[in-house]
Amino acid sequence: MATILLQQTSLLLMLILSTVALDCGQIVQSQRNEIGRTRRLLEAMGGQRSPTECPEDPDFGFPMEKIVLNSSKEDARMAIGFFLEQIQNIFQHNFTQTNWNMTATDLFQETLDQQQIQWQRCSIVRTREQATRHSLHVKRTLKMYFTKLHIFLREKEYSLCAWDAVRGEIFEVYSVVLSKLLGKL
Ligand SMILES: *[C@@H]1O[C@H](CO)[C@@H](O)[C@H](O)[C@H]1NC(C)=O
Ligand SMILES: *[C@@H]1O[C@H](CO)[C@@H](O)[C@H](O)[C@H]1NC(C)=O
Ligand SMILES: *[C@@H]1O[C@H](CO)[C@@H](O)[C@H](O)[C@H]1NC(C)=O
Repeated sequence: MATILLQQTSLLLMLILSTVALDCGQIVQSQRNEIGRTRRLLEAMGGQRSPTECPEDPDFGFPMEKIVLNSSKEDARMAIGFFLEQIQNIFQHNFTQTNWNMTATDLFQETLDQQQIQWQRCSIVRTREQATRHSLHVKRTLKMYFTKLHIFLREKEYSLCAWDAVRGEIFEVYSVVLSKLLGKL
């Protein structure tokens, strides 16, 4: 009995260890593979919107150059994790006023959670050195951009139109930003 228990425990331990040791390259590849599906889910969330009802989407001005130029691999790894986390945060706000497809919305949030958790493993394992001055700058720049989205939603009282502008914005930037940053790894 004890032997079986011991065997099971060591099997479990091996499983955990092999999961932790999962190569960063594999995580990068799986993050690449998620891009298309995540975009399709973001698209599937909306659907019934008639564009004429809403004012033109504002230009939130994603700071692409500041994020991508001069960034090392470590900067890029940090930026990907932070970017995913910030998107997760945005979609924690109240969207009861939208007419989103809840199945697609749940799946979208689920996949973002998974991507973020998976990415953490890659950055924790591989980036032990202290944050560089540049990586702090990249983080601050990203934070400022996402703050703009938060303020916009709040000012528009989380209306359907405001949410669809934000969803459209994330739809646009998600794949471009990730492709560029993943391309650096
Ligand atoms: C990149 O680095 C160069 C040289 O240090 C600097 O002149 C330029 O402003 C930097 N660009 C960005 C977007 O940080
Ligand atoms: C979300 O907003 C709706 C009205 O738009 C409100 O009735 C509801 O209480 C809010 N929910 C939360 C959790 O704040
Ligand atoms: C809602 O989204 C799911 C998942 O993308 C999709 O299978 C389903 O057809 C959508 N429902 C409607 C009413 O569009």
